[in-house]
Order: sequence, then structure tokens, then C-alpha cells
Amino acid sequence: MRVLAFAASLRAGSLNRKLISLAVDIARAEGVEVDLSAFRDFDMPLYDGDMDARAGLPSGAAELEHRLRRTDAVMISAPEYNYSISGVLKNAIDWVSRARPMPWRGKSLYLMSASPSPMGGIRGLWQTRIPLEGCGALVFPDMFALPHADEAFDGAGRLRDPALAERLRRDVVGFVRLAEAVVPICGGAISALAQKKQEEIASALEDESQLQPPA
Ligand code: FNR
Repeated sequence: MRVLAFAASLRAGSLNRKLISLAVDIARAEGVEVDLSAFRDFDMPLYDGDMDARAGLPSGAAELEHRLRRTDAVMISAPEYNYSISGVLKNAIDWVSRARPMPWRGKSLYLMSASPSPMGGIRGLWQTRIPLEGCGALVFPDMFALPHADEAFDGAGRLRDPALAERLRRDVVGFVRLAEAVVPICGGAISALAQKKQEEIASALEDESQLQPPA
């Protein structure tokens, strides 16, 4: 199984980048091939419907779409901004959601957050689930929020608290096992017939919900 992983922060000293690195190490130890990407690779302008109609996805969004298509599952560590999803991540989800077939659909997805606050960013993760699930991603029920993240890592980048480290390991292993089980049904290489059926269902769902104007 291939997993795309990134921290949804552009900051050089990002705490979320530290956290995603730990999750990546755990996934790799479980035999997963991980594409650990820098969010900067997905640099893109604010969503603009005119730009979309004229030229489609800008290069950073197209790069994210491309990496999503090459993977079966996704792990994201995302900061909470003002009790919610950060603007840069929502913008990236919105741009990519304009591609067809929908790149998020059928991807198993694990969400994490790191914050210096005592809440660890969990409120933002609940908000982050909504657009991703709306786009058809299978968001793992458990989410990992790291409170006091500015003090949580030792010099080697490990979590100081062994109980938290064990919880992260258990969650990531659980996510990996579930994602592996789901890939043959919802993602990965599927027959042309199944692909056509999946696209028909996706298109019917979008028409039904009228969530998205036609691309
Ligand atoms: C924050 N931060 C923050 N933290 C939190 O737990 N709840 C919040 O609502 C917010 N709101 C917020 C808004 C804005 C505009 C900024 C810039 C920051 C703090 C945030 O969690 C902290 O800066 C993290 O360190 C950001 O993640 P990275 O960049 O370290 O990965």
C-alpha cells in the first residue's frame, strides 16, 4: 500500500511536520510505502472560479492531485486555526475537488494535529473531517491531537510521553490495517468496469446533493 503524508503547514519550524514524521516512521515500520511530501510543493493561489474555468487546476493543486492518484491512503497533520480548519488546507481541498474523477474519493485518511494549546487542535480536526468526507474520503474514526506540542518532543523528535507515543503507534497501525483492508474495495487498481460504475455513482451523488456545480 502507498500512503501520501504531509503536514498542512508552511512554517519552517512546524510542529505538525514533527508529528507527521513520527506517524510516517510507524507506517513505514508496518511495511507501508510512504510519500512524505512538503506542503510547499502544493503552493497554489486562492480558489478562483474564473481561473478554474479558464485553465483548470494551478500547478500546486495539480501536483497534489497527481500525488493523490498515485496513493491508496493519506495521512495529514493539520494545525487548528481559530477553532477550525486552516485556510490553506481548505483551499487545497477545494481546488483538488474540482478534478475528475474526484481524487479524494475512496482514499482512507488519517488526521492528526499538533498545537501548543491544551486542546491540541482537536476542534480543527472535527472541522477538517467535513470537507474531506464530503469529497468521499474515508476518514479514520480516531484522530490524534497533540496538546502542548511545543514541549512534547525530545531532541531526537520523539514524543517525551511514552503513553502518548504508544497511543499514536496503536492509532497509526490501526489506520494502516483498516486502509489495507479497504483498498481492494474502494481504491487502488480497479477494473475499467468498476471504475466506470464508481464514476457513475460519484456523479449521481454529486447531482443529488448539488454540492458542486458541474466542472
Ligand atoms: C493558531 N493557533 C491555534 N491553536 C489552537 O490550538 N487553536 C486555535 O484556534 C489556534 N488558532 C490559531 C490561529 C492562527 C491564525 C494561528 C497562526 C495560530 C496556534 C497553532 O496551533 C500553532 O501556531 C501551531 O504551532 C501551528 O502549527 P505548525 O505551523 O507548528 O505546524
